[in-house]
This record gives sequence, structure tokens and C-alpha cells, in this order.
Amino acid sequence: MILVTGGAGYIGSHCVLALLEGGHDVVIFDNLCTGHIEIVENLKKYGRVEFVKGDLNNLSDINSVFEKYSIDAVIHFAAFSQVAESVKNPQKYYMNNVGGTMNLLSSMLKYDIKKIVFSSTAATYGEPEYIPIDENHPQNPINPYGQSKLMIEKIMDDYDRAYGLRSVRLRYFNVAGADSQNRVGEWHDPETHLIPNILKSTFSGGQKFQMYGTDYNTKDGTCVRDYINVEDLAKAHILALEYLNNGGRTNYFNLGTSDGSTVKEVFSACEMVTGKDIDVEICSRREGDPASLVADNRKAKEVLNWVPEKSLNYSIEKAYDWEKTLSREMLNA
Ligand SMILES: NC(=O)c1ccc[n+]([C@@H]2O[C@H](COP(=O)([O-])OP(=O)(O)OC[C@H]3O[C@@H](n4cnc5c(N)ncnc54)[C@H](O)[C@@H]3O)[C@@H](O)[C@H]2O)c1
Repeated sequence: MILVTGGAGYIGSHCVLALLEGGHDVVIFDNLCTGHIEIVENLKKYGRVEFVKGDLNNLSDINSVFEKYSIDAVIHFAAFSQVAESVKNPQKYYMNNVGGTMNLLSSMLKYDIKKIVFSSTAATYGEPEYIPIDENHPQNPINPYGQSKLMIEKIMDDYDRAYGLRSVRLRYFNVAGADSQNRVGEWHDPETHLIPNILKSTFSGGQKFQMYGTDYNTKDGTCVRDYINVEDLAKAHILALEYLNNGGRTNYFNLGTSDGSTVKEVFSACEMVTGKDIDVEICSRREGDPASLVADNRKAKEVLNWVPEKSLNYSIEKAYDWEKTLSREMLNA
């Protein structure tokens, strides 16, 4: 079985679907701090999914999973991931992201599990020195969130050298979209990501969309980001698992499309997909937002044979379908 920490969350739940489709049995370990039990219930309809409600900060919680189930490998999503919050409350991030991962790794060593795929982030690179960003770009994170993920990457290198625990670290750029069959999707509160925020503003009671910064040195003045579809992203985890199963060494890969879109372009695409004129409030820049972040994804293509296939418009269409479902559920709640 594959242990998926954070499998009740956004990206983890899409990865669970991909695992089930690949014939794997899955154990989800999640404390539901930002994940949802409704997502777990949906996932259970599509294959063998065991759910353990537990917290990585409690070593006994995670030990009990390895005790009970026969785990072959781990895919580790569980973390806090809001950049601004990490600046205000770094302790929360270091305790949960670094401390929780330390417990997970110690439990893996105790039960002799030596393969892990880990959710890292483009935030480990910090302010880009060149674009597109390849894996050799210096890692100088500019916030505690990125710092916590970089620390984990370094810890994983040491654990490989000392204990032979092999890892694949996947550095995601901006993840977007939802399951193509609308079984799961992005469900954060508060939502900090661009696409769901634009889409949410079109529903009654939604907050007006705020666009931060229109005076960047980019083609239309707004920030450029690389939006990678969540199903394409999930596939990369399956390939990373196969890579480790085939004896692949510890490694790290950027996951992005290598194609950037500006905030204004994303906004126009959302207007097109929804067929609505969306209200927007132009605001000043937010601190710590680099002008451009675009991945060089050639390494993942070459080594993992990963091919991102889905367009930004497709991601927005699926995200919109999911937002409609969420807004109905909230109305019914
Ligand atoms: N969403 C993005 O664009 C993005 C980009 C780069 C990296 N990432 C990384 O991907 C991973 C998943 O992100 P997401 O957007 O799906 O987040 P999410 O908040 O939707 O999912 C995280 C899940 O982990 C669980 N969790 C958190 N702390 C836990 C703990 N101590 N014990 C047990 N469960 C715990 C939460 O309940 C939640 O279900 C995170 O590690 C994040 O840093 C996300």
C-alpha cells in the first residue's frame, strides 16, 4: 500500500485518484486541519482507501499506521503552505512542516520504509536570478514557508547518505484546476490562490477580486506565473514512485509547464470560461511577489518521462465546475 500524508487536501486527493487508477491501494493519513472528510468519502468510492485521522506532530499516530498497514512507499503532502501566514507565524510552519516531517521520517526508518516522494515548491528558489528556473538555480527562499521546505530537502539528502532513505522532491510551481470528472477539487479556507479567487468572486456573496500590482516589468505589468494542472501534477507523483521502485537515486524535479501567464491573462481566461464580466479592484503590489516565476521542466521530462498535457483554459474550466459544486454544498450546509 502507498501511504499518502495530506491525502484529504487539494493536491493529495488528486494524487490518491491517480494511484487508485494505477491499481494501488492507499492509506490516507491526515489530521483534517485544512483537508476535508467529504473528500476522503468521495475517494473511497473509487478504490481501496483506508483513512487514518492523525497528526504528524504525534509520533505515535504515525507509528500506528506503519504498524497496522504494509506500506511500500510514502507520498508526503501534509504541510501548511500559506506564505503570508508563515511570515507572521514562522513557528507554526517550522513545527508542522519540519517537525512533522522529522516524525514521519523517523517512523519510516523504524519500520524500514526507504522511499518517499515529497511536495516541495518553487518557493525554495526565492527571488529568481534567471528565468526559466532550472533545478540548478540557487535555493534562497525569502519566507519561512519556502525555508521549511528547503530544510526538509536538505534533511532528506542527509537521510539518504546516512540511512539509504531515497527521496524524490517535486518542486511545484502554481498548481491549478480540479479533477476532470469533478470528484475532488481545491477547497481552501481562506483561499489564497489566484484562479479560485477570481472564480469565487463571480458567485453571490463572493468577495470582489483584488489584483495586486500592475506595474511590474512584464508584458502587461502583472506578475507572470507558471500554472500546472493538478492532474498532470498527480501523474508526476506516480512516475516518481515508479522511478524509486526501479532503483532511481534521490533526485529533485521542477513541475511546471515552462510557459508563463500574466495575472491579466488568467483573469481574461476566467472571464471567457465563465462568460461573465468579472469585477476587479486594482491594488498595489504585495511584498515578496517576484515579477516572474516560470519553470524549466526539461529534467522531469527527460528523467521521469513526464509530459504535462493540459492547458490553462482547461484547468480554469475544471476549477469552475468544482467551484459550482462547492458553492452548492456550502448553500446546503
Ligand atoms: N497548492 C499549491 O499551489 C502548492 C504549490 C507548491 C507546493 N505545494 C505543497 O503541496 C502540498 C499540498 O498542498 P495543498 O494545496 O494540497 O494543501 P492542502 O492544505 O489542501 O493539503 C494539505 C493536507 O495536509 C493535512 N495536514 C497538514 N498538516 C498535517 C499534520 N501535521 N498531520 C496530518 N495532516 C496534516 C491537511 O489537513 C490537508 O489535508 C503541501 O505540502 C504544499 O506545501 C502546494
